[in-house]
Amino acid sequence: MLRRSSPWPRLVAAGLTAVIPLAAVPSARASTGSGAYTPGSAGLGDPYFPLAGNGGYDVAHYAVRLRFTPETRRLSATTTITARATKNLSRFDLDFSGPAISEVEVNGRRASYVRKGQELVVTPRRGLPSGKKFTVMVTYAGRPKPIKDRALGVAGWIDTEDGAVALAEPDGARSWFPANDHPRDKATFTFEVTAPEGLTVLANGEPDNSGVAGPRDGYRTSKWTMRHPMAPYLAMVAIGKFTVSRGTVGGKPNITAYDPSLAKEFKRLHSTTAKAIRWESKVFGDYPFSSTGGIADRLDVDYALETQGRPVYDTGMSDELVIVHELAHQWFGDSVGLRSWKDIWLNEGFASYAEWLYQEQHGGPSAERTFAEHYRHRAGSDFWKLKTGDPGRDGMFDWNAIYVRGAMTVHALRKEIGDKTFFTLLRTWARQNRHSTVTTKDLLALAERLSGRDLDDLFDAWLYRAAKPKP
Ligand code: TRP
Ligand code: ZN
Repeated sequence: MLRRSSPWPRLVAAGLTAVIPLAAVPSARASTGSGAYTPGSAGLGDPYFPLAGNGGYDVAHYAVRLRFTPETRRLSATTTITARATKNLSRFDLDFSGPAISEVEVNGRRASYVRKGQELVVTPRRGLPSGKKFTVMVTYAGRPKPIKDRALGVAGWIDTEDGAVALAEPDGARSWFPANDHPRDKATFTFEVTAPEGLTVLANGEPDNSGVAGPRDGYRTSKWTMRHPMAPYLAMVAIGKFTVSRGTVGGKPNITAYDPSLAKEFKRLHSTTAKAIRWESKVFGDYPFSSTGGIADRLDVDYALETQGRPVYDTGMSDELVIVHELAHQWFGDSVGLRSWKDIWLNEGFASYAEWLYQEQHGGPSAERTFAEHYRHRAGSDFWKLKTGDPGRDGMFDWNAIYVRGAMTVHALRKEIGDKTFFTLLRTWARQNRHSTVTTKDLLALAERLSGRDLDDLFDAWLYRAAKPKP
């Protein structure tokens, strides 16, 4: 589902003005769809990922059904997408780089399709009218391959020794299910995963095994539901041998699991998750999802990922501050999502600043001290080389520009507006944009409104210059 804080920019872009009474808006929107049926675009215009996402529709729900055979590492799968056309569509694209497709159906009837690179172009028998719901069912089977990128690492479907884990930032969702693979289009998800009885299946959200058949032929089906809107890159499935812990935090389920061979390293995953969620709920406001947790496995990707409601941790990523970071993303990145990948600092700057704040409030160095240590980097050094607010596609996970200077930007803002306004800003930002998407401009506007100050120069100096800002 596409949501934004304010509908006005889109209406203005469509040639409407604020003088048109609100009641006229629905018919005005419908009338934009009365024209000819034309193809949806192959991308959403993201400057870093021009083919990510697709134009002409808005996904409401993904139902992902998978059968996984560990011996062959093959999947056989059906993904059913419920979407709404936002214009009259003669055809539309999905992002898909997964295994061989055997069939595509639109509204229950066979549709024709072609694959062009990462695009799956679907032509339904009849055009899809603007404003109307439609369903797309894609059936496919084979061995999925992860998306490997020299600058961004490995993402998507990852084989492990005893199963597989899917985690997909920034554009790896397409490796295992067809998607409108852009953070701007959130949707609810159900996962129905069939795997050998001896293996455990976990995914985002909560387990729901009512009415699911099995075991049969040694295979069992597990169902998980994410009932809050989620960007495709935050979808997660984990299959393998796991030691599972179940508890609650703040009245919501806390479900954590680790590969048994990681028991020593992750023995505190469950309790640290509960502790971090309790602290973050105090500082950032109510936890946005209906359960929490974490999954630790041997992935060999060398990162952790904030998969919605239940982050994934590679071996080596068990430090308390990593857990604090991934769980802070539940507010900043997952619930409050990105309109554009260019604003990735909004995710990483806030999650990294959560680590600084956690240390400050748990007997460690103050955030001011952490800031001061990084600020010692000399003007002209590589530390200041990229723009934090526009690092370039290959720089989107740059440690200095995005993680460290992202957090420094948040701290500079805190110093400028004072602690009281700053902590109000954190909670207001999370509450007002819950389950939605944002831009840096939205943050600037809110910070200016709450503080009553002009913050253009501060944002400009910290985000849009490849240079050390003045103290
Ligand atoms: N977003 C993840 C985090 O900070 C990290 C991450 C995902 C990452 N993919 C990456 C870091 C690729 C470097 C390269 O929690
Ligand atoms: Zn992060």
